[in-house]
Amino acid sequence: MANSIIFVSGKGGVGKTMISTNVSTALARTGKRVLLLDADFGLANANIMLGVKSDYSLADVLEGTVEINKAISKTKEGLRILCGGSGLSNLVGLDQEARFRIIRLVEPLEDTIDYLIIDAPAGIEENALCYAGASDEICLVLTTEPTSFMDAYATVKVLSIEKKINKIKVVVNMAESIPSGKAVFGRFQDIVCRFLPVTLELTGVIPSSKNIQQSIVNRSPMSKNNSNFKDISLLSEISHTIVNNIKTSETNNVTFFKGLLSGAA
Ligand SMILES: Nc1ncnc2c1ncn2[C@@H]1O[C@H](COP(=O)(O)OP(=O)(O)O)[C@@H](O)[C@H]1O
Ligand SMILES: [Mg+2]
Repeated sequence: MANSIIFVSGKGGVGKTMISTNVSTALARTGKRVLLLDADFGLANANIMLGVKSDYSLADVLEGTVEINKAISKTKEGLRILCGGSGLSNLVGLDQEARFRIIRLVEPLEDTIDYLIIDAPAGIEENALCYAGASDEICLVLTTEPTSFMDAYATVKVLSIEKKINKIKVVVNMAESIPSGKAVFGRFQDIVCRFLPVTLELTGVIPSSKNIQQSIVNRSPMSKNNSNFKDISLLSEISHTIVNNIKTSETNNVTFFKGLLSGAA
């Protein structure tokens, strides 16, 4: 049974894909078996950021065009990537039979991995909520912009009300500095604490960095042979903080995909 971690955000463009690809890569580098599920159909670009080609998605697998292994690409670090494609874009509209078909197809995958990392669609539409509800761990990506703040609050509120989620990790991205990122988290926590029964935990602050931006342009995760060692260690530190604090048991007998499809019922 794999541990599942989802990266969510209130609005797009806050760094979910950058963080999920780098955290997955950092984990794969430590020898863990990691599958990154790109569930952001609007802007499915995890494979692009990682510089690997994906010819097929889960949608093709569900149509019976290809076998599941054909839809999974592998990076040189050994990270596996599966694009959800339109196959998982409308969970809410799926009938019982389609759900069972997905479960049969993808559930065995979870026995072959240690961590399932999900790059979620932005916002609070029903599908994104189902993904979050099925994950062991939720990590919210927040930036210092006021609009990110408000959308993130709306997301936490819906997760709390609709999915009864009461613990969320937070990564502050694109901060001017580590202290200013911590201050943003403090303000966000104050507001959330006051109005919602949700505990937030700061996992890490990632500063706005030219190296990070360049690694995206270069279509490769932060690599050790660049001059960006400080940023890499920050990202691996964050991935280890996330992994070391994963809660156990509660969802441990339900796989992510089974939980996902029953949550969408
Ligand atoms: N820490 C950072 N420093 C500099 N630029 C960043 C950082 N994080 C993200 N970006 C920029 O923001 C853009 C959007 O990031 P992305 O991961 O695609 O967001 P999302 O998946 O949330 O839509 C990237 O193309 C990159 O240029
Ligand atoms: Mg994205």
